[in-house]
Amino acid sequence: MTTPDTLRYTKIPITHGSGAIPAVGFGTLIHDPVATNQATATALEVGFRHIDCAELYRNEAAVGDAMQAAFRTGALRREDVFVTTKLWNTNHRPERVKPAFDASRRRLQIDHVDCYMIHTPFAFRPGDELDPRDERDQVVYDSGVTLIETWQALERLMDEGQCKSIGLSDINLEKLRQIVAVARIKPAVVQVESHPYLPEWDLLDFCREQGIVLLAFAALGHGLDPKLLDDPVITAIAQRVHKTPAQVALAWAVQRGTAFLTTSTKPYNIQQSFEISTLPEDAMQEIRDRITTSVRFNTVVGTGVPGFIPRAS
Ligand SMILES: NC(=O)c1ccc[n+]([C@@H]2O[C@H](COP(=O)([O-])OP(=O)(O)OC[C@H]3O[C@@H](n4cnc5c(N)ncnc54)[C@H](OP(=O)(O)O)[C@@H]3O)[C@@H](O)[C@H]2O)c1
Repeated sequence: MTTPDTLRYTKIPITHGSGAIPAVGFGTLIHDPVATNQATATALEVGFRHIDCAELYRNEAAVGDAMQAAFRTGALRREDVFVTTKLWNTNHRPERVKPAFDASRRRLQIDHVDCYMIHTPFAFRPGDELDPRDERDQVVYDSGVTLIETWQALERLMDEGQCKSIGLSDINLEKLRQIVAVARIKPAVVQVESHPYLPEWDLLDFCREQGIVLLAFAALGHGLDPKLLDDPVITAIAQRVHKTPAQVALAWAVQRGTAFLTTSTKPYNIQQSFEISTLPEDAMQEIRDRITTSVRFNTVVGTGVPGFIPRAS
């Protein structure tokens, strides 16, 4: 009798906070709210227990509706699902943090957030305009607040007990070191782009040392060129282990100790992405040694401007 493969149920304990984060996460960067609702419902149905949201995605209510519908069936309880959401760049001023957090909770229809993150380290001009631009169409940054001041506002949210952990997103190693050095409560989770074309080993090593979970977004390379899922190393392993290239990339993410986020609106792909199984050690090593392509798909880490989100015209 073979033992069932439990990779898809991996949970990583939260060191700086409470709870544990399911390594297999579903992202909700989906533009249409109806599609968001359906995709979230499917993700919960097939087994995802970690849902990533953001104020910026403007669809938290649709995610909240899908979660509430699942809770109403009795098949799922709130405590079964790890929910993250993110503070947008226009709300970095400390006095704007709590109202933004409460608005996210209200839209998501949940009392507490499992991890609340600063979406990017870049503060934009405070206000309702998510993408403030000057007359030359340049982003208007806000020099009136520092990242540590925003971080301290998140620490206060944790003190109040309505979020179980706090984190940073789109941050590089240098800025992360600065926050870790002065934080009263260290980041529990760091969400960055990462996949076999951008493994971020140094960042992962630092996160391991500090008890921080690295949460990889664009785990499938966001479907952009050069296509990770067409990489010959990945496709050869997929054939060998009788899995899809997507399942190989996602299993690799979990086995090297990260959590990941993936997104689809197609039920078949959502299910496939959940049904990952452990790769043999030689496949893990092959991905590390034989993939030489190096690509960052999203420039957000350098500017705070999300590379994947079309600007409102
Ligand atoms: N912090 C940040 O700044 C930031 C930035 C970007 C994203 N994120 C988060 O990360 C999440 C994931 O990001 P992402 O969209 O870049 O993820 P991704 O999973 O790398 O890319 C999604 C692409 O992969 C395809 N795909 C999904 N499942 C598949 C499967 N099983 N087989 C084959 N192809 C598959 C999708 O196509 P189909 O739609 O055709 O299935 C889509 O083209 C977002 O939803 C968001 O929550 C965060």
